Amino acid sequence: MGTIKIHDLSFRYDGMPQNIFDQFSLNIDDSWKLGLIGRNGRGKTTFLRILLGQLDYHGEINTNVAFTYFPQPVADPSQATATVLLKIAKLDPSELWRIQVEMDKLQLADDVLDRPFATLSPGEQTKALLAVMFSESGTFKLIDEPTNHLDVAARDVVADYLKGKQGFIVVSHDRHFIDQMIDHVLSIDREKIQLFTGNYETWRREFDKTNASEKAEKQHLQTEIKRLDATANQIKQWAGNAEAKKSQLAYKHQGRVMMDKGFLGHKAAKIMKRSKNTLNRTETAIDEKKSLLKNIDEMPQLTMNFQPPHQQHLLQVTDLQVGRNGMTLNQPITFELKPGQRQVLLGPNGNGKTTLIKAILGERHLITNGTVARSAKLKISYLTQNFEALHGSIEAYSASDAIELPNLLNMLRKLGFERSAFATRLEDLSMGQKRKVSLARSLCEPANLYVWDEPLNYLDVITQQQVENLILKYQPPMLVIDHDRDFVKAIANLPVIEVRRP
Ligand SMILES: Nc1ncnc2c1ncn2[C@@H]1O[C@H](COP(=O)(O)OP(=O)(O)OP(=O)(O)O)[C@@H](O)[C@H]1O
Ligand SMILES: [Mg+2]
Repeated sequence: MGTIKIHDLSFRYDGMPQNIFDQFSLNIDDSWKLGLIGRNGRGKTTFLRILLGQLDYHGEINTNVAFTYFPQPVADPSQATATVLLKIAKLDPSELWRIQVEMDKLQLADDVLDRPFATLSPGEQTKALLAVMFSESGTFKLIDEPTNHLDVAARDVVADYLKGKQGFIVVSHDRHFIDQMIDHVLSIDREKIQLFTGNYETWRREFDKTNASEKAEKQHLQTEIKRLDATANQIKQWAGNAEAKKSQLAYKHQGRVMMDKGFLGHKAAKIMKRSKNTLNRTETAIDEKKSLLKNIDEMPQLTMNFQPPHQQHLLQVTDLQVGRNGMTLNQPITFELKPGQRQVLLGPNGNGKTTLIKAILGERHLITNGTVARSAKLKISYLTQNFEALHGSIEAYSASDAIELPNLLNMLRKLGFERSAFATRLEDLSMGQKRKVSLARSLCEPANLYVWDEPLNYLDVITQQQVENLILKYQPPMLVIDHDRDFVKAIANLPVIEVRRP
């Protein structure tokens, strides 16, 4: 049995004001099934990249374990899937069966092997890349967010599959998913990193207990900080008065200064010295208490620039079918959307849900059958599934979308986005942070109707909850694609539509 020994690991990206990891030590057994959790941008992907040897760090990592990473980069997705997979696995074509065995367990049909990798749905790509990863034995697997593009059924298949494996770290924001297979949890919190033995539920119970006592402690701390702040202010004022008195006296009694200094001046100086000491002590106490508060995550109520529509009929979709390259992707769908109504589209990946949304938003060339009637003058906020528009600075992004920068930044802060990441170029942000930038834009821009394509993808658990609360508070009309069962159940108020293949 091998161990991965991490000792005093410290790391920060260039230009970051503080370390992501600060003298962190941990031993990981290579038989563990470790769930790595934590809010967006805390350093989960960074940790995996450090283990892979892709980043320069301080400290020591001792192990003879070899690591592999999911999702593996695909050099040329236009090539046949078999070619792509063999190349990643560094296998001879005669050994393709090794990958096929795993594909079979993941319920991925062999016919994808002949198709160009790029034409596979994101869910199929995920399964194919996992199959390659596990076709190789003897490596420790680093699996970074495998569920993002998986529909409900595929999530269950992959969870079942990983249950039968050991020796991996899996990063995921889907609690149901990781709870099915992990035996250890590594949680990256604001101020500390903690290891638990058990699954997500065990960790959650422990976490809730700590949180409850921390919350009580937090209220106490906040009262205490307020009191100390008031004391500090009083002292400052008092010291200021004493100082003023001193100079007043010195001024009034010019010529007789020596006497006053010897008496009143001396007294004032003594009082001031004492009060300055008290002030320093009070300020240190405030800092200490504030740092204790830092590990507790806030969940502020989000806001949206929702402008209730005046129209009664927002959207009428009748027998709609869409297609790409002359191929119809779905069975006809029909629905009507009125104010306050939320329609969710579900269904396996690759069934054209995103194409449907694009057609509804006005790309008429995608329609092969049926009609879309949309109320004119309706302001629609569209949250896309991809991050292609995200590059350059946050300032430039907000300017190009005509969103006030302070509003955007304020929204990002509410979403738990660390201030220190504002200076990071958008293309360098973590996946969840990118998602938050797009989401913040959608929440800031004025809109009568929201069309969101997989809004919860990549978002951490706290933010997922915030988004759900927001929708229930504002009750905006929406058209949503998402795979998260709890979320869909909470927000949909029209019967969910299953998008099926023709
Ligand atoms: N190449 C880079 N240059 C500068 N900063 C970076 C770079 N890559 C990541 N970061 C920053 O480092 C921090 C950690 O990023 P990382 O991708 O490890 O987060 P994560 O925990 O995986 O988040 P998520 O849940 O969103 O995937 C973030 O603040 C991110 O913006
Ligand atoms: Mg990540």
